[in-house]
Amino acid sequence: MFVRNAWYVAAWSSEIGTALTAVRMLDEAIVLTRMSDGRIAALEDACPHRKLPLSMGRRKGDTVECGYHGLTFDSSGACTRVPGAERVPHRARVHAYPVVERYGLIWLWMGDPALADPELVFEVAHWGNPAWGVNAGDAMEVDSNYLYLTDNLLDPSHVAWVHPTSFGNAACEETPLETTLTDTGVIVWRWMKGVEPAPFYKQFLRFDGPCDRKQHYEVCMPGHAIIRAIFVPARTGGEGRDLPPETFIMDSFNFMTPVDASSTRYFWFQMRNFAPGDAEVSALFAKSVRGAFEEDRVVLEAVQRGMDSMRTPHIDLGIDSGPKRFRQMVARRLSEERPGREAAE
Ligand code: FES
Ligand SMILES: [Fe+2]
Repeated sequence: MFVRNAWYVAAWSSEIGTALTAVRMLDEAIVLTRMSDGRIAALEDACPHRKLPLSMGRRKGDTVECGYHGLTFDSSGACTRVPGAERVPHRARVHAYPVVERYGLIWLWMGDPALADPELVFEVAHWGNPAWGVNAGDAMEVDSNYLYLTDNLLDPSHVAWVHPTSFGNAACEETPLETTLTDTGVIVWRWMKGVEPAPFYKQFLRFDGPCDRKQHYEVCMPGHAIIRAIFVPARTGGEGRDLPPETFIMDSFNFMTPVDASSTRYFWFQMRNFAPGDAEVSALFAKSVRGAFEEDRVVLEAVQRGMDSMRTPHIDLGIDSGPKRFRQMVARRLSEERPGREAAE
């Protein structure tokens, strides 16, 4: 059902302290807590005795004590105490998920721990570059399968209808789309030439008049997207060209973590190539982006309900070719992972 050998975002770092915080990812219950040395422990949220969620227990130093009969676990998932028993039963342990903290996010490896390479955490270009501004991130839960979100993030045309007051305008309705496959995912993109800038972007552009606009919509395994918006004065844009100094670039990073088959926790932040330290610009970005993503949420939840209850088969259009290629990639990865999973079970 879900690609497992991958890093997924579990939470913003700021969300996790010494409390026991329950999260659900890939239909698994997980408890997160921060140890005294700052590291995050991510444990299966089910005591091996009677499966009480460990998140209903309590922290005791750097261990987690079950709230039913006191079995106690360290951050590796090993049981360190069984009250009233002389020895710890061999099977008294919980799964511990490999954890990496990066970009202010907590990433968990959901598959075979032996394959958990921190180098495989999604790479954010320009991170730490003082010339780029970072727009504080946010998150929301969307009652929709994560693949409807990846469909949406490989669909540059939807902005014309879903976000007409922010990211889109009529210029986004007709220009044909290109699809490029990469080793890790799919890019759907286009340059729109000599068009009116869409409302959200217009306020930040360092030039007047019509623009050339590039939409770059890229989704990588297992469900991580870069939405790159480029605006340059009309007649200066195009693939492979050196772009002028007043070029506007916004990279929107979007990380989809399936909660279960019909809901997704969606995390995001943006980076921009101007006004790096400007808190007002960041606040304006955060508010506009949140507003636009709420528009997506309404559509995606209705799509999930519509697809669940359809009376007549749905159809696909030319614009669905990028999203379909990504779904094929996911299907391939799932069939590659399945033999390993069966062996492990
Ligand atoms: S259910 Fe956890 S110790 Fe009994
Ligand atoms: Fe959208």
